[in-house]
Amino acid sequence: MSGLITARPKRIVGLGGTFRQASSSERIVRAILAQCAALGAETIMFDGPALARLPHFNPEQPDRTRDESALVDAIRTCDGIVIGSPGYHGGYSGLVKNAIDLLEDLRADTRVYFDGRPVGLVVTAAGWQACGTTLSALRDVVHAMRGWPTPVGVTINSVEQRPFAPDGTIGDDGIARAIRAQAQQIMSFATEAVA
Ligand SMILES: Cc1cc2nc3c(=O)[nH]c(=O)nc-3n(C[C@H](O)[C@H](O)[C@H](O)COP(=O)(O)O)c2cc1C
Repeated sequence: MSGLITARPKRIVGLGGTFRQASSSERIVRAILAQCAALGAETIMFDGPALARLPHFNPEQPDRTRDESALVDAIRTCDGIVIGSPGYHGGYSGLVKNAIDLLEDLRADTRVYFDGRPVGLVVTAAGWQACGTTLSALRDVVHAMRGWPTPVGVTINSVEQRPFAPDGTIGDDGIARAIRAQAQQIMSFATEAVA
């Protein structure tokens, strides 16, 4: 019916992870998406293998593969984002950086880049130092892209912590609380979406 404004579920996009089969950064992003879904969101995940299918970003090449268009369109139409990266040599991974650089395609949008949207950040690393430096670097990227990093960032030290139970669920109460808190912040900061 014309003139009817229909509320639709909030759309939350996850991106991140590595080539590793049990990538911890991917699994934590998925856990946050699952919490967002429990709060009513529609979610979509671009994991390590999906990010690896993206060609190296070339600013002089305007043609886009189907995988590139899928990521750009998902971010363009989303209400919130979760980005997860391992700490690699004190920073975020090249796989994640290449995906973020592709989002230059959103430069001329009315809602440019991540404008007005909450962005939850996840870092897993073998030490606390890379957890901190990588989270801080990702927050700088989100600011540059006009997004709103959520106050709760989830960092996991994969040497000192055991985030997963044998059945694959989150097995650490503190990590589970941080995941829930970040999902709640994403869902409450995401503006009310309409069709
Ligand atoms: C190439 C490479 C570089 C890494 N650099 C660091 C580092 O600088 N500091 C650190 O604490 N861990 C480092 N790590 C360990 C990873 O951050 C850690 O294993 C992470 O949890 C892997 O994420 P994943 O489970 O999603 O693959 C590195 C691992 C690799 C493969």
